Amino acid sequence: MNARSASILILALVLAAGAHAHGDVTPHPIDTTGLKPLGADWLPTNPYRGDTKAVAIGAVGYEHNCAGCHGLDALSGGVAPDLLKLDGDCLRMSAGAKRESCLADVDDYFKGVVLHGKRNSEGRYTMPAYASVFTQEAVWSLKTYIDARTLETAGAK
Ligand code: HEC
Repeated sequence: MNARSASILILALVLAAGAHAHGDVTPHPIDTTGLKPLGADWLPTNPYRGDTKAVAIGAVGYEHNCAGCHGLDALSGGVAPDLLKLDGDCLRMSAGAKRESCLADVDDYFKGVVLHGKRNSEGRYTMPAYASVFTQEAVWSLKTYIDARTLETAGAK
């Protein structure tokens, strides 16, 4: 092996190690200090939509918990569904009651999947359940971040 192929090999190993670090799927609580507290009763829809502080907090929570499967910056690497598609249709609608009810449906679906996870036909979790680690504030900050990324990217074009 010459020096060039050795350095390519080292680079490949470093990249593989980095990818492995993001492959950590242990649920981590999200510090939502600074967001309006929401109490124990679940709201039917995301109260933080468009709140820039919630976007920032959700981004950190996303990178710690979801990026390993759904991709860094919510750009799907193909392992798990592309989350930027969830809200794309709703966010493309013009402002009004129809758009709000579309987003409310997706909020409800998102909340359910994140709290309870997903299982395959054998009952094995393909996505972990986060009900024991996430507060309501944490779940809605994640949703706010994903909406913001959808608007920023082709998902809402
Ligand atoms: C261990 C990998 C893994 C992790 C970690 C993970 N997911 Fe998932 N997620 C999946 C898989 C796989 C599916 C598809 C499962 C299925 O449909 O059976 C999925 C599905 C979803 C869906 C439904 C998507 C759709 O199009 O219907 C949402 C929403 C979701 N995940 C959000 C999240 C969020 C938010 C996080 C972080 C808090 C997260 N996931 C962490 C693997 C993961």
